[in-house]
Amino acid sequence: MILITGATGKTGSATAKSLGEKGERFRALIRNEEKKEGLESLGGEVVIGSIENTDVVNQSMQGVKTVLVLLPNSESQLALEKQLVDSAKQAGVERIVKMSSIEATPDATSPIPKLHLESEEYIKQSGLAWTMIKPNFYMQNLLASAGTIKDQGKIFLPMGEGKTGMIDTTDVGTVIAKVLSEDGHESMNHEITGPEILSFYEVAEIFSKALGKQVDYVDVPMDAYKETLGQFLTNQWHLDAVIDLFKGIAEGGIEDKTNTFNELTGETPKSLSQFLAENSFIFKS
Ligand SMILES: NC(=O)c1ccc[n+]([C@@H]2O[C@H](COP(=O)([O-])OP(=O)(O)OC[C@H]3O[C@@H](n4cnc5c(N)ncnc54)[C@H](OP(=O)(O)O)[C@@H]3O)[C@@H](O)[C@H]2O)c1
Repeated sequence: MILITGATGKTGSATAKSLGEKGERFRALIRNEEKKEGLESLGGEVVIGSIENTDVVNQSMQGVKTVLVLLPNSESQLALEKQLVDSAKQAGVERIVKMSSIEATPDATSPIPKLHLESEEYIKQSGLAWTMIKPNFYMQNLLASAGTIKDQGKIFLPMGEGKTGMIDTTDVGTVIAKVLSEDGHESMNHEITGPEILSFYEVAEIFSKALGKQVDYVDVPMDAYKETLGQFLTNQWHLDAVIDLFKGIAEGGIEDKTNTFNELTGETPKSLSQFLAENSFIFKS
């Protein structure tokens, strides 16, 4: 049995869909009962409860061989991930698949990559088998710019000339489902990028072609961006951490794409143009 956390979020729901398509048995630990039907229709078992509730977590681990540790970024993420690992070990789980990030490298200074790295280390020291999933920036993050793209033909972000190898979340879900459901990924770091390394100026050009209208990237000074983002992200730790992550992109971001998706699936990950062909309705007025 596979246990997945974060199953109602972006990556977790893509993972559940892919597991369902493969006909794999899985259990999802979710906190919102209203979201259980979608998972059950994919053939998943659902346990209702918060990851913060150790009794429910322990209960959800029964009979489980592999656990997907996938949590949203927060000040308590590291502590909760450690708790999940402890509970998995106690329940006799064999392998942890951890949702991490490509930025989680030993020289990371930013809070989110640093917490991922510390969690990775904790998992490695647990004695359980492990696989780390380390994606780059999600194409789905661009959905936050849908309003300004629709209304003004502009993407307001503070990334300067920085580049990412952005990846579609559904491709990440495909990789995670594959890793969860087969052997041979133990002690591996799967760093996942999309098929192109793009600056946000290039991203805007691709939007212009896909939407048939001019879309410009506007490089917003980091302080001004933080003020705007602060209206939506009200937790100070989270706001500071996201800004720090974006500074890392603005300072250069990523230079090389990886072939992980191709090697694991035999297919090419979705390009931004393909992502927009599927999702253009979200960005059109
Ligand atoms: N976005 C990116 O570009 C990117 C790139 C690389 C790595 N990452 C990493 O990806 C992870 C986030 O993944 P995501 O974007 O798929 O997350 P997401 O869409 O924000 O979803 C978070 C999931 O966690 C669940 N959850 C939150 N608190 C919970 C609790 N107390 N008990 C049970 N479930 C709880 C949420 O449930 P509800 O539906 O009930 O809220 C939801 O299913 C982070 O660790 C991040 O560092 C992100």
